[in-house]
Amino acid sequence: MTRPGGRLRVGVLVSGRGSNLQALLDASSRPGYPAEVVVVISDRERAAALDRARTAGVEALFVNAKDFGDRESFDLALVSELNARRVGLVCTAGFMRILSSAFTRAFAGRAINIHPSVLPAFPGLHAQRQALDHGVKVSGATVHFLSDGAVDTGPIILQATVPVEPGDTEETLAARILVEEHRLYPEAVRLFAEGRLTIAGRRVIVR
Ligand code: GRF
Repeated sequence: MTRPGGRLRVGVLVSGRGSNLQALLDASSRPGYPAEVVVVISDRERAAALDRARTAGVEALFVNAKDFGDRESFDLALVSELNARRVGLVCTAGFMRILSSAFTRAFAGRAINIHPSVLPAFPGLHAQRQALDHGVKVSGATVHFLSDGAVDTGPIILQATVPVEPGDTEETLAARILVEEHRLYPEAVRLFAEGRLTIAGRRVIVR
């Protein structure tokens, strides 16, 4: 939901370090950027990402899954917090929970995720370790829409590749991929905010 003449209101879901959140916050503060992060929600009270939000003057919210009887109720609580702030786009950024269809339906076509591999290769946890174990020569990052099905399977918006170097560890490969993540995620949000993304079946057309 972009207000007339205003910027797209973005909500970010996090669980940890928040370096991708930081990239989005930094982009938000650039003149002319068409989106602004209005709320950051974490399922972990001590997530460093919440401190990043506070430092940037953005509302930081902890929602405790233990306060809810099941996954759907927790997800619906997230939906209601996001709607209360008139969020038009949700970005998951290192959010360590799988969102149910209660959430993905409420934000269909309005929720995106970043993943540290060139999907559909290596979905799920430890994507960098999976890439090293497989012996691939390139890996990278993907921004995609959230879908109702399995994790990391939604329509792909942007991808970037990096080489896998001899002697790479999970950490060195992750660091190389992160550089691309921090470039891709704000770019994907910008494209969405400018109305330049159309989902056509499995594909995303970028205008
Ligand atoms: C990133 O690699 C992201 O792609 C993955 O989890 C990591 C989160 O890192 N989903 P950060 O919290 O954004 O620093």
